[in-house]
Parts: sequence; structure tokens; C-alpha cells
Amino acid sequence: MERLSGIIREQIKKPSPIRQIMKMAARENILAMGLDPDDVISYGGGWVNHPAPPRLIEIYSEIINDPEAFHTTGGYSPTPGMPPMKDALCKLEGTLAGQDIGPENIIVGQSSTQTTHDLFVSIMDPGDTLLIPDPSYANYPGQLSFAVPGAKLARFPVFDPESWEFAPDTDAIIESVKTAVSELGPKAVLFPAPDNPTSKVLPQEVVEGIADITEDAGAFLIFDMAYRTQMFVDPPAYYGWSPRERENLIYLHSNSKWGRGLGRRLAWLVASNDVIDAMERIQQCTILCPDTLHQMAMTSYLEESIEDGSLVNYLREVNEMYRTAARMTLQAIDEHIGYPRTDPDGGLYTVMKVSTDADEFVPEVLKNTGVLFIPGGGFGPALKEGVRISYGPLVSSLERIEEGMERVGKHLA
Ligand SMILES: Cc1ncc(COP(=O)(O)O)c(C=O)c1O
Repeated sequence: MERLSGIIREQIKKPSPIRQIMKMAARENILAMGLDPDDVISYGGGWVNHPAPPRLIEIYSEIINDPEAFHTTGGYSPTPGMPPMKDALCKLEGTLAGQDIGPENIIVGQSSTQTTHDLFVSIMDPGDTLLIPDPSYANYPGQLSFAVPGAKLARFPVFDPESWEFAPDTDAIIESVKTAVSELGPKAVLFPAPDNPTSKVLPQEVVEGIADITEDAGAFLIFDMAYRTQMFVDPPAYYGWSPRERENLIYLHSNSKWGRGLGRRLAWLVASNDVIDAMERIQQCTILCPDTLHQMAMTSYLEESIEDGSLVNYLREVNEMYRTAARMTLQAIDEHIGYPRTDPDGGLYTVMKVSTDADEFVPEVLKNTGVLFIPGGGFGPALKEGVRISYGPLVSSLERIEEGMERVGKHLA
């Protein structure tokens, strides 16, 4: 242990709470609990389970079956991404969000996990503070610690653990960000839209307030758009703001959730030119270049599917699948359990109030019912007595959604 780095010796004691619980649900542990692993219903996975676009699959196979194209996939791409890929992404952002950006505002990366890490290194120094909501994505604290040892994390409240409401008082959120910015002087404010774990979207007026506060303070405002194609409400106008107009805005985009590309690692970041140049410098040392095969396939697919409208149709169909899964999850919770839960604006999750320490509730429910939830505390103190319930992996097996809630409801009764 002593021969490992200081940061690892510190962080190895604080593993990701979600990974820990997923380990608890591993086959051997389930067998040790006397349960049948095939009978376990997991609401734990933060992943999507719909089919990729059929035309994208064909494009991959065309590239692989063309020796010249396949040879090209084995070459390095430019560090900031292939120029046609960047052009296609500008068109994508224009089509999906009405965002006005040029290739100078985009860098392509290996994943949003990697671009987030490299972004932290690009904009933060030891001692600087990152401001995130309570609750928020459970990976941010660890990511920040590894990227910039000595950087600090602070949170602003967006959720009322008593009433179980998201953004019950929008003025209060803006006020708390104003106070945090003047007291702590954070380098950046970061939040996912829609959020993981609540699947809520911060209202336009709150984000306008935060954008003004951060701009005046010279801080960055970072949007993590990992779930932006799973949307059950009208997208707020800030999805389409441009760093050409507001220089402090940064958008993190991921290939993972829109076309079930979680393992086909690819991402892009939208920002002002100086941030893009900084990211290029660090990517020279972290990834050298993003994946060439995925860029080639994605470029062809986007060029074709934006032009003929099939991308928008595909995304609409996929969105409908998640909207249905979300609705069935809420209905099943209400009917069989009856605990308070959030109403997703998009994304893959709802959070349910269990009114007891969720770190104890989750293993107890798993042992007795074979149903897995994720304890909320890892997302922030506001969710200590809540669980995250994911319908993402169950989108293609909807019947299991109700079965799991029925089992838990019977046990709790
Ligand atoms: C909010 C958020 N951002 C980023 C990621 C990771 O994205 P990627 O697969 O591009 O690394 C996740 C994964 O669940 C997430 O929930």
C-alpha cells in the first residue's frame, strides 16, 4: 500500500458507492444470500437498453468490410477529433438544441468521464472549489479528487428531503448559489440536465440566475448533457445557449445514452475557444486521440440521418420507450409501495423516499425480495433516506418493472 500514491491511498478507502452496491448484487453474493441470481430484479443500472439505430449498425459493418476504410480506422485521428466529425456535431447541436456553434467550439473525446476529468485539470487548481447540487451525480467528487488533488467540492441545495420536492423554491436556489459564489468563489458550477439521480431539469429561470451569477464572478457554468435525449418535458432554452454569446458556458456531451453507445466510448465538449485549446493540450497526454472507428461511423450516420430526418425520428421513438418505462415505474411504485417519489422530466431514474437510512434499507430489501435499489446517500446528503430507482435497463423488459415493485410492496407491508 505504501508504494502507491497518496491520492490512491486516500481514494481507495472511498470507492464509488454505486459500484459497491452493484458488487453486493454480484452473482456470487446473491447465491450466498440464498437467492436465485436469475430471479433478481435490478433497478440499479445507470444505463440504457434500447437498440442502436439500424443504419448505424450497417455503417459499422460497411466500414469493417471495406479493407481501405478499416485500415483508416487503425490510424490516429487528430487530437481534437476529425474535422468532418466536428462539422457533423455542430449540425447535430444545431438540429437538437438550436445551438449556434462552430468547429472551434468543439473537441471530441473518449467519453464524458474522460472529458470531465480533463476539463477539471484544464480549469481548476488545487484549492479551487467546484460547486454542484445536492444531490448530484455520484462520480463527480471522486473525479475531482483524482483530476485536481486539493480541489474542494461544495454543494447547493436543489431538493427538499422533507417534502421530497425538487426545486420547490426557485428563488431560494438562486440565493444559495449567490451566497456560495460570494463566500467560496468557486471556479465552476456543474450540474447534469436532466439530473442523475432525480431525473429533474433545473427550471430556465434558475439557470438564468446561475448564469448571471457565474458570469459576473468569472466562474464557469458547466452542463452535463449525458441524458439530454431522454426528455419528457420541453427542453429548456439553456440547452441551446452558445459559448459564442456567453463565454463561461461549457457543455459536456456523451455518446453513451442516445444510441446505446455506452461501450462505444465517445464524447464531445462544447466551449469557448480557449477552453477547447486547453482541452487539446491535455488530451495530447491523456488519450492522444479519440477513437477513429467510432468517429468515422458516427460522422457518416449523423451526416445521413440529420439530412433525411431519420435521426430525429429515431430519437423520438427511443424517447417514447423511456417515457413509457418511467410512467410504468411510477404507477408500480404508487400502487404497490406508495412512498413519495420524484416525477422524472427525462433521464433514467426516479428517487423514492424510504424515510430510514437507505444504506440499511437497500441490503435488507435485496435479501428479502431479490430487488435491488441504489442507496441515495452517495449522491448527496439530501438523499440519505432515499433510493435511486432506474428504469433504464428495464426499458426492453417492461413486465419486470411491476413485478419488482410488487415484491417490495408485499415485503414492506
Ligand atoms: C450525469 C452523468 N454524466 C456522465 C456519465 C458518464 O458518461 P460516459 O459514458 O460518456 O462516460 C454518466 C453515467 O452514468 C452520468 O450519469
